Amino acid sequence: MKIAFFDTKPYDRIWFQPLSEEYGFTIKFYEYKLNTETAVFAKGFDVVCVFVNDPATAEVIDLLHQYGVGLLALRCSGYNQVDLKAAQGKIPIVRVPSYSPTAIAEHAIALLLAVNRKIHRAYTRTRDNNFNINGLMGTDLRGKTIGVAGTGRIGQLFAEIAAGFGMRVLAYDPYPNPAVPGEYVGLDTLLSQSDILSLHCPLTRDTHHMIRADSIAKMKDGVLIINTSRGALIDTEALLDGLKSKKIGGAGLDVYEEEEHYFFEDLSDQIIDDDELARLLSFPNVIVTSHQAFFTREAMEAIARVTLDNIREYADGKPLTNEVTLKDK
Ligand code: NAI
Repeated sequence: MKIAFFDTKPYDRIWFQPLSEEYGFTIKFYEYKLNTETAVFAKGFDVVCVFVNDPATAEVIDLLHQYGVGLLALRCSGYNQVDLKAAQGKIPIVRVPSYSPTAIAEHAIALLLAVNRKIHRAYTRTRDNNFNINGLMGTDLRGKTIGVAGTGRIGQLFAEIAAGFGMRVLAYDPYPNPAVPGEYVGLDTLLSQSDILSLHCPLTRDTHHMIRADSIAKMKDGVLIINTSRGALIDTEALLDGLKSKKIGGAGLDVYEEEEHYFFEDLSDQIIDDDELARLLSFPNVIVTSHQAFFTREAMEAIARVTLDNIREYADGKPLTNEVTLKDK
């Protein structure tokens, strides 16, 4: 199998290069993202491998099909960046449904603890010999109510950790999970009773902007919002309004609606021309991490192994265990 690997970062090579040799595959690593301009570099390859922010639009899929690419292997769990309808009957899509739900659940907790106790501000103060603690007051988490939207693999683990902290867990999911240590409620109750809200559902037509002006209006004053799922679950403009009016007490965001233009890149010598992102970064009570919740050793190893297992199934003409089809939309 010859694999064209788009949007490569140094850490991808570390995990994929040695494993691909073990599998007998050849990988060509490209640093650029897959798009209509770069798709031509997939010519002559059996498989294309992409990450979360490579838009596999209908146009891109048509080009890959034209170039004879037989499989699109996502080295991630989410597949909202792929036009599944366009891919149908042309190129099968496989993904890594789960690599380390623990990694994402723990990062969500890290964001919650940091935003609540203002660790990011304390860190910069003490590095500057400023040992003043004014403005750094947080709140006890024990006894507080935490709302978990989406209680699949990640949401369940997140709920378990929150319960371990002594928090009251409320959950919202069309498919309740009996292993979740909490009470299932409707979305309105989740919004109105939670001191903290953490999002763990996939981005779909139903969940797009599930947090918007009218949902924020239903929330408790001072609510903390954590999003490690997908940026477009939140209407950024409404989030900014909620932060400005102090309705929202803080946010920990690992994802952002328009992240594909910024995240994973070092833009430290450039001007951010996205005013909403720039505004978000300006709040003292907002922490933005750059889609790094998945980024642990365990997860990277699992991503590489499952991606190459997916490709091996394709190479052997076997049924594709982790295929994503229109029914998953
Ligand atoms: P999962 O498929 O195990 O769980 C998703 C849950 O969301 C399911 O229980 C499903 O019933 C529920 N759900 C679907 N529609 C819903 C709705 N309208 N309202 C409430 N719940 C709904 O997925 P998993 O593995 O827990 O991942 C969740 C999400 O986390 C992924 O879709 C992905 O977007 C995100 N993710 C983020 C990563 C990061 O690095 N920041 C890494 C991996 C995943």
